Amino acid sequence: MQDLETLRSELMGAVGAAADLDALENLRVGELGKKGRITALMKNLGAMAPEERRTTGAALNALKTEIAAAIEMRKTELADAELDSRLMDERVDVTLPVRPQSSGRIHPISQTIDEVVAIFGEMGFVVAEGPDIEDDWYNFTSLNIPPEHPARQEMDTFYLPEERDGNRIVLRTHTSPVQIRTMQKQRPPLRIIAPGRTYRCDYDATHSPMFHQVEGLVIDEATHMGHLKGCLIEFCRAYFGVDDLPVRFRPSYFPFTEPSAEVDIGCTREGGTFRIGRGDDWLEILGSGMVNPKVLENCGIDSSRYQGFAFGMGLERIAMLKYGIPDLRTFFESDLRWLRHYGFSALDAPSMVAGVNP
Ligand code: PHE
Repeated sequence: MQDLETLRSELMGAVGAAADLDALENLRVGELGKKGRITALMKNLGAMAPEERRTTGAALNALKTEIAAAIEMRKTELADAELDSRLMDERVDVTLPVRPQSSGRIHPISQTIDEVVAIFGEMGFVVAEGPDIEDDWYNFTSLNIPPEHPARQEMDTFYLPEERDGNRIVLRTHTSPVQIRTMQKQRPPLRIIAPGRTYRCDYDATHSPMFHQVEGLVIDEATHMGHLKGCLIEFCRAYFGVDDLPVRFRPSYFPFTEPSAEVDIGCTREGGTFRIGRGDDWLEILGSGMVNPKVLENCGIDSSRYQGFAFGMGLERIAMLKYGIPDLRTFFESDLRWLRHYGFSALDAPSMVAGVNP
């Protein structure tokens, strides 16, 4: 009995001293398990006299129960302490400023394409595409551009080495070849816009060797110059968000349209600040005209039955005007500070319902 009392105080001391849940579990397995000291003592009971066996057996059972209960209590204590310390460590300071969210921005060119597509989409135009790498026929010949035309000159155009059959591959200098590709593939009525990259040997504040245009083409049996004017006036006013924006059609020349017109919008430079709207000045923003019958015939379309109009404009130019971006080269410098400043939220997706003027 004296031994049991010693064992008891030793075990109770060990339980109290267990520093964490792992140590406590080791203690439980070691002392109360099959190889523990209490179990060993119980094995001796068989060799005892009946009276001694009864008292010792009862005492051993009581000791086992007591130690098990002490372990359970210590376990709760340790678990609580562990939780408390975690809560202290992981305390949330709700007064801290929020972490900055790194959010991507939509490039002004992408935004402008979406705006243009939204406006013409509302008028029933569908988007068409063509390759950036064209050949001489699609980029020039089919569009009635004669061999001696300045646009074909080496210094303005990126040519690839001549192919064996004499065919010349070029980086398209305008989106007009998409007119040809569309008319070859589809029969009228047609109403397409074709935004995309274009290339010319130019580099200054308003030119870059790669830039973007959007082409428009309408072909059916009845479309006339009045439709061209109405459509482009409507576009300019919607795009710049100025309801009474003056729009002027100035006679011009393009080999692929006849008659041709360049389109100017009203603006003012009064007091040194540039503003789009009613004013004393004009600014050219696009080229247009009635599709030359020769171009229709080049695509196998009967020009005595079908007619229509086409237009083309530079996307950087209209983006610069609308968003006050002074230098075209910055569009393609990939400067994140520029993009954060001039870029758009992905949630500002232009549509005729949400608006095209964020
Ligand atoms: N392709 C012409 C250009 O790049 C623009 C244009 C397109 C003019 C369609 C008339 C009709 O300048």
